[in-house]
Amino acid sequence: MSLSERSRQAVWHPCTQMKVHETFPPRAIVAAQGPWLIDHRGGRILDAVSSWWVNLFGHNFPPIVAAITDQLSKLDHIMLAGLTHPPVVELSERLGELTGLGHAFYGSDGASATEIALKMSAHSWRNLGRPGKNQFIGLQGGYHGETVGALSVTDIPLFREAYAPLLRLSATLPSPAMNPLQDSIDALAQYLAQHHEQTAALILEPLVQGAAGMAMYSPDYLVAVRRLCDQYQVHWIADEIAVGFGRTGSMFAHQQAVDAATGQVARPDFICLSKGLTGGVLPLSTVLTTDAVYESFWDDRASHGFLHSHSYTGNPLACRAALAVLDTFASRDVLGENRIVAQRLTDLAEPLTRHARIKAHRQLGMIWAWEVDTPDPGFAARYHRAALDEGVLLRPIGHTLYFMPPYALTESDQAHLVQASVKALNRALAEGHAGDATTMVAMA
Ligand SMILES: Cc1ncc(COP(=O)(O)O)c(C=O)c1O
Repeated sequence: MSLSERSRQAVWHPCTQMKVHETFPPRAIVAAQGPWLIDHRGGRILDAVSSWWVNLFGHNFPPIVAAITDQLSKLDHIMLAGLTHPPVVELSERLGELTGLGHAFYGSDGASATEIALKMSAHSWRNLGRPGKNQFIGLQGGYHGETVGALSVTDIPLFREAYAPLLRLSATLPSPAMNPLQDSIDALAQYLAQHHEQTAALILEPLVQGAAGMAMYSPDYLVAVRRLCDQYQVHWIADEIAVGFGRTGSMFAHQQAVDAATGQVARPDFICLSKGLTGGVLPLSTVLTTDAVYESFWDDRASHGFLHSHSYTGNPLACRAALAVLDTFASRDVLGENRIVAQRLTDLAEPLTRHARIKAHRQLGMIWAWEVDTPDPGFAARYHRAALDEGVLLRPIGHTLYFMPPYALTESDQAHLVQASVKALNRALAEGHAGDATTMVAMA
């Protein structure tokens, strides 16, 4: 039996209707280098979604490999309660310097960061004598992970529906990516005026709502969020899990939100980081927060401490990978290099952008998205398979086709990406038109 067939039986794959693998088994990947994945037959596939938006500098990136290897020979893992180690201290201090939020709490993945931020916010208000502030606000189309707490602030019906009875749903307010900016700000102002006494925090993805289909919006919304959250004493949680580390053109997406009145960056009360934090190599997440939140837990009573733990919190290997990421940003002008790569890819992608069935092109930093004009409900699955055959890993979200590649793309990688995307598009559209009934739920 092939590896793919064995995987179909023994491995329950995420975000997948497993029955689909009866006809299309998962592709077996045995190696990766830079932006390229190598399959079991030696075929090369360009990873144009950075393996679920995690990879920054390509696979097998030498500085990260060296850092992990070095750390492995010194200290593999220790619990972080009552003990500490050099990589976690250095990483926390450096993230504090980069964001102005000097207290880092660690988890293992994006969803655990969301859980930590939500719990920390509500517990902080409780410690401050305001236990009634325990509700949350999310945005229309928002996505913050799929554990029970994270799902309760996520507004993607497909992911939420089956589990709705388990959730304590947050309020969902209009997204500025889907409504006029001022209407979205007014809706938030109105909601907070009525409900601030019960509201602990607003959680959002700054600038790009990834799972909603790379829905992009103006940084001006974040300036308004900061102002309104200050006015009504509500925490602002910026979920930078997908957009942090240069993805949107700045180190962190919220840093593009500058209040014209003060000249200051609109700084969140909590920042959730994961994915690119380790360059896409090891699972790690962190929630950064303010002195005010940290101090609200400083007490003689254990019940006022933050009651949350994961066994692998602050894993030294993952922290070293994250430090190698920060070193890379410190030693190279990654954002400047990305601007050049991005302009070249935007230019090369003209044939896709001008395609008769493509509309609504948008781009921010190292994220490109287009809407495909097709009534075909199976388009995403069809496209994904056609693209794999053309040597590119792409997973449209519904009818949204997007690129979110590793930063290290040569001109020939980019040319391959665009040519393969156009070929796959034509094929998927033709197959859909031919009435192929095979559909697979479109997932991120
Ligand atoms: C904005 C955002 N938040 C949270 C998550 C959840 O992260 P994880 O899949 O690591 O749990 C994701 C994952 O795509 C995300 O895009």
